[in-house]
Amino acid sequence: DRRTAQEALTRLTVDVPDWPEAGVTFKDITPVLADHHAFSAVITALAAAGRDDHGTVVVDKVVGMEARGFILAAPVALALGIGFVPVRKAGKLPRAAHAVAYALEYGEATLEVHRDGIAPGERVLMVDDVLATGGTVDATRRLIEACGGTATGASVLMELSFLEPRTVTGDLPISTLLTI
Ligand code: PRP
Repeated sequence: DRRTAQEALTRLTVDVPDWPEAGVTFKDITPVLADHHAFSAVITALAAAGRDDHGTVVVDKVVGMEARGFILAAPVALALGIGFVPVRKAGKLPRAAHAVAYALEYGEATLEVHRDGIAPGERVLMVDDVLATGGTVDATRRLIEACGGTATGASVLMELSFLEPRTVTGDLPISTLLTI
């Protein structure tokens, strides 16, 4: 259940100080992935955001954001019995894509999705590991909408609340297992 997932995440995530640069503490979730019970528990907990109170699946697609989001979003899609769609960094997708530029702490980045990855009217759940500035979730929401889909929300392992991501993501529902 959710409590088991939160406990495993707390126990196994490793804080790496000053990585990738001085002053930043990196949240290394690879030990969570390497533990079958922990990985399974966090996938089940992340997938709950795609179900209603009766357990019925209420979304049509799961989107994962490159690269760590892929690791979580693909098994969430399988758990929900629906398809997975990758959102990739610029220049990686081979066919016609929508692109959205978003602000990084310094500079700008672009995310892309295949135009036919999401059909008009589809309800889409975003899955990622960390909600930091909120830029990635907000750009992905815009990509889903560019396809004609509806972003129902995001499900993430950890929210770095001190970076105030919800000032960027607005009223989009976001469920997080841990808030730091
Ligand atoms: C990290 C993380 C999220 C994003 C969150 O990805 O996996 O996708 O940053 O940050 P934000 O809320 O400030 O946008 P990163 O860009 O480091 O890519 P990676 O998964 O390929 O390492």
